[in-house]
Amino acid sequence: MKQIGIGLAGFGTVGAGVFKNLAKNRALLSERLGVELAVRRVAVRDLKKARSVEAPADLFTDDWKKVVDDPAVQIVVELMGGIDEPLALITRAIEAGKIVVTGNKALLAEHGKEIFDLAAAKNVPVFFEAAVAGGIPIIKAVRESFVGNHILSIHGIINGTTNYILTRMTDAGLDYAEALAEAQAQGYAEADPTLDVNGWDAAHKAIILASLAYGTWICPKKVFVEGIEHVTARDIAFAKILGYRIKLLGIIKADASGEIEVRVHPTLIPEKHVLASVNGVYNALCVHGDVVGETLFYGRGAGQDPTASAVIADLAEAACASATRRDCGFMPHGLYGDCKALDAITCQYYLRIPVDDKPGVLAQVAGALGASNVGISSMIQPESAGEQAELILMLHDATHAQVRNAIERIQSLACVKGAPLLLRVENFAA
Ligand code: NAP
Ligand code: HSE
Repeated sequence: MKQIGIGLAGFGTVGAGVFKNLAKNRALLSERLGVELAVRRVAVRDLKKARSVEAPADLFTDDWKKVVDDPAVQIVVELMGGIDEPLALITRAIEAGKIVVTGNKALLAEHGKEIFDLAAAKNVPVFFEAAVAGGIPIIKAVRESFVGNHILSIHGIINGTTNYILTRMTDAGLDYAEALAEAQAQGYAEADPTLDVNGWDAAHKAIILASLAYGTWICPKKVFVEGIEHVTARDIAFAKILGYRIKLLGIIKADASGEIEVRVHPTLIPEKHVLASVNGVYNALCVHGDVVGETLFYGRGAGQDPTASAVIADLAEAACASATRRDCGFMPHGLYGDCKALDAITCQYYLRIPVDDKPGVLAQVAGALGASNVGISSMIQPESAGEQAELILMLHDATHAQVRNAIERIQSLACVKGAPLLLRVENFAA
């Protein structure tokens, strides 16, 4: 049977998973594709490191250029992580006319335009299913299955690590550091887990999805991003009393004028909404198209095997790609507008404020909100034992600018005894 030569740059969690599963399902893949996917070269950083997946020693090199330049390699798979070296690797592979597969969402979010401009110029496809939501085939769905739709909105839990952390804090009472250590041990977290917890890994994925949905590369500076570092077990408990779950949510929308909104932040989701019950490493995305209506995608969003499944799907497509293929993985168009100014984005909010437990305090806080034209929709004040209390307020729709202004007023009140915690609420209106 004809073989297609594959070069793997990276043999960590995902790269080793690709090698392992290509071997496991070799016969099935060959039957389905009519060609054999043969790994011809593997690049790693440290040749002496012990590997949990066995592979012939003569495949390995510590120089990724040898993988790209090997004439027996037709498809280059970048699974190293980072930005500069993967960019150099992918550029070199495209220049050489070699099809590229990558799971590197940080790279695509930062350099997608230049990579796909080069890919289009050279007519070389670049595949990236593994870059968003692990094993869920969301890239193929948005790019191909919904090609006949305007995408009205995408709401997604798109980071496995933070969803795992929030779930373990909620269900097992673990503290934040313990839950993060578990996620790292299972291979869910990025090499630098700050990217997971500060929201930027999810933001990279939201940028890729929004760019695909709206046909223009979204600038990372125009995305509102907040992580889960400040969410405490108490906020999770208060949200539960109010009928919500807290999830790190990616929200992507275009309004009637074509303006695009992309944001990622901890979000209060009504407990009856399907996304509220997505737990652990699972990811889920609700995609709303103007023709198809509401759709739901669910699956494991990180880890060795689900991500390997996505890479192998790309390899299969890459192996079948014809030399005359016009779609290089991203087709830009100009049908939508720019990203909405962050201050103009409107949503509802949860606000927790530490205050003096004295008469008149609630009126002062309500006055500060009213002065910024922000309304209160409901409130709880748990019984307090000492001189301080906490006000937990649910706020009506307001712009980021209005709420920032209100918080400045609130912080200047003498009765306020610490930094207020602000979280956003999502009501899933398209
Ligand atoms: P990882 O476990 O840290 O593995 C990275 C691999 O790349 C290692 O084998 C490392 O070599 C090798 N490497 C790094 N720099 C290199 C260099 N300059 N030259 C040669 N080899 C180099 O990372 P991972 O979790 O597999 O993630 C890989 C990529 O997939 C990242 O872009 C990540 O964002 C993405 N991704 C990960 C997941 C997941 O669940 N983990 C899911 C989706 C996408 P050594 O082994 O010698 O250190
Ligand atoms: N660190 C990422 C996550 C890996 O936890 O979702 C999958 O992209």
